[in-house]
Amino acid sequence: MISSRAKEINPSATLKITAEIKKLKKEGRKVINFAGGEPDFDTPSKIKESAKKAIDSGFTKYTPVAGISELREKICQKIKEWYSLDYKPEQIVVSNGAKHAIFNSLYVLLDPGDEVLIFSPYWVSYPEMVKLCSGKPVIVDFKETDEFHPDLDLIKSKITKKTKCIILNSPCNPTGVVWRKEELVMLAEVAVEHNIFIISDEIYSRLIYDSQHFSIAGLGKEIQARTITINGVSKTYSMTGWRIGWSCSPSEIAREIAKIQGQITSNACSISQMAALSALSLEKYEIEKMRETFKNRRDILIAGLKKLGLNFITPQGAFYLFLKVSNLGYTSFDFAKKFLTQKLVGVIPGKPFGNDEYVRISYAISQEEIEEGLKRLGEFISG
Ligand SMILES: Cc1ncc(COP(=O)(O)O)c(C=O)c1O
Repeated sequence: MISSRAKEINPSATLKITAEIKKLKKEGRKVINFAGGEPDFDTPSKIKESAKKAIDSGFTKYTPVAGISELREKICQKIKEWYSLDYKPEQIVVSNGAKHAIFNSLYVLLDPGDEVLIFSPYWVSYPEMVKLCSGKPVIVDFKETDEFHPDLDLIKSKITKKTKCIILNSPCNPTGVVWRKEELVMLAEVAVEHNIFIISDEIYSRLIYDSQHFSIAGLGKEIQARTITINGVSKTYSMTGWRIGWSCSPSEIAREIAKIQGQITSNACSISQMAALSALSLEKYEIEKMRETFKNRRDILIAGLKKLGLNFITPQGAFYLFLKVSNLGYTSFDFAKKFLTQKLVGVIPGKPFGNDEYVRISYAISQEEIEEGLKRLGEFISG
C-alpha cells in the first residue's frame, strides 16, 4: 500500500529522542534536555502583538503565494543590511519555514538521478529531502582533523557530470562551524567552473559568536546567479512554531519555486507573515540579548567540557556543540541511550548527522541546566 519512495525515507532521528525526553519529563523525572533544536526564549512580545493585530483586523485570508509584498521588501532590505546582498522582492519566496524553502529549491532544481553534494556532518533532513526530490545524495565527509572545515580537494573529487547542486550550511547544524571567507571563495569558484548550484542554508547566520558570517551569494554576480540563499525567522527571533522561512534566488527560479508552492501549500500563514514583518522590524538590540545569552551559555559549556578533559568542536555559531564520545568507548547511539537512562540527560546521537563518533549537545537551555548537565556528565564518564 505504501509507496517505495515513502518507504525509502528515514523518520527524523531528532524527533524520536525528543519524544523520549518529553515522556520522561511528563513522568516527573528531572531531565536535562541537551537535545532541543530551538531557542528556549519566548517569541518577543512586539511580534506577538503584531500577530494579534493581524487576527483582529481580519488579515486572515489567502495572500500572494510568494508572500505579502511588504514582507518580501523587508527581507530584501534586511539581507542588504546584514550581508550586502542585492535582491529584488520578486526574487524572494516566503515559505512555511526554512525547511519548506529548502525542499522547494531542491524540487525545482533536481531531475531524477541528479547528484547533490552534502557535507558531513550535515543537518539530518538534507539527504532525505534530496531523495524525496528523486535526487541522489552524495556525502562528502569533512575531516575531524580539519575541525570539520571544508576540504576543497575532496569536494572536487566527488563532482561528476551528474552533480547538480551543493548544499552549504554555515553556521552548521550540528557542529557550529562557520565557513571562513576564503573557503567560500574557493567553493564559489568550483561551483561556477562546473556550473553547479548552491543551496546556502543560512538559518543560523544571525547567531554568530567569535566569527563572521559571509553569504556565498555576495561573492560576485556569477555565484549569485547559481545560488539559492535560505533564511528565516525561526532561530533568530525564537519563532520556530510560526513557520516562516524564505528563499532568495534568481528571478526565473523564484518563479518556479512560487509555482510549485502554489500547487502544494499556497502562501505561508498570513498572520505569521505579519509577525515575521514585525520581527524583521525590531531594533538590533532587541535580539542581541538572545545572541549574547547563547554566547554566555556556549562559553560555560566549553569551559565545563574542557575541565572534564573531553574532545569537542568549538562552535562559532548556531547553538550546538559536537562532542566526541568514541574515545570514551561509545557509539553515538549507545552514549545517548545510556546517558539518558542512567543520568536523565538527553543528547542527540551523531549518526543521523553522518558521524557516529560524536553526539550533538544543544545549549538552548538555561545556564543552571547546563551546569547541572555538566555535573551529570562528569559523574557519567567517571562512573
Ligand atoms: C540547518 C537547518 N536548516 C533549516 C532548519 C529548519 O528551519 P525552519 O524551522 O525555519 O523550517 C533547521 C531547523 O532545525 C536547521 O537546523
